[in-house]
Amino acid sequence: MALFSKDIQTMNDLFVHTLQDVYYAEHQITEALPKMIEKATSPQLRQGFETHLRETEGQIRRLEQVFEMHGEKPKQVTCPAINGIIKEANEIAGDVGDKDVLDAALAAAAQAVEHYEISRYGSLAAWAKELGRHDCAQLLEQTLAEEKATDAKLTEMAEARLNRQAA
Ligand SMILES: [Fe+2]
Repeated sequence: MALFSKDIQTMNDLFVHTLQDVYYAEHQITEALPKMIEKATSPQLRQGFETHLRETEGQIRRLEQVFEMHGEKPKQVTCPAINGIIKEANEIAGDVGDKDVLDAALAAAAQAVEHYEISRYGSLAAWAKELGRHDCAQLLEQTLAEEKATDAKLTEMAEARLNRQAA
């Protein structure tokens, strides 16, 4: 998000720019997830990624609805933040040989993605309300709830692994 771009002067500009930013991010995530599914060895983790890939496709459609409701054409702007998170995930996953460690690295990378998305959708939902767009806020909050649920599932999986190790 190029926060200091001259094009962003009003809350509405900021809202639209951030929609474009997360629209780009969701597309990057749909490209990254199949590679993570391929690498994951735990069936549970793999299934979690598959579910989230389908969910992400729905989130893209939902963003398109928000653009439309707000009178804007869906457009992507490069988000260096998500690019960095995905790049780091690929680098780490490429280096890990042990499959349990690899799964832990993949799950942690996925959680970093979720936390990024939770912050973006949280801001977007709040700004939509501020702009009087409760219709947009409602859709954005649906996605926010999905991202939080995915994050919670990833935490559960990480805890299950720790419990297995402790047993
Ligand atoms: Fe998402």
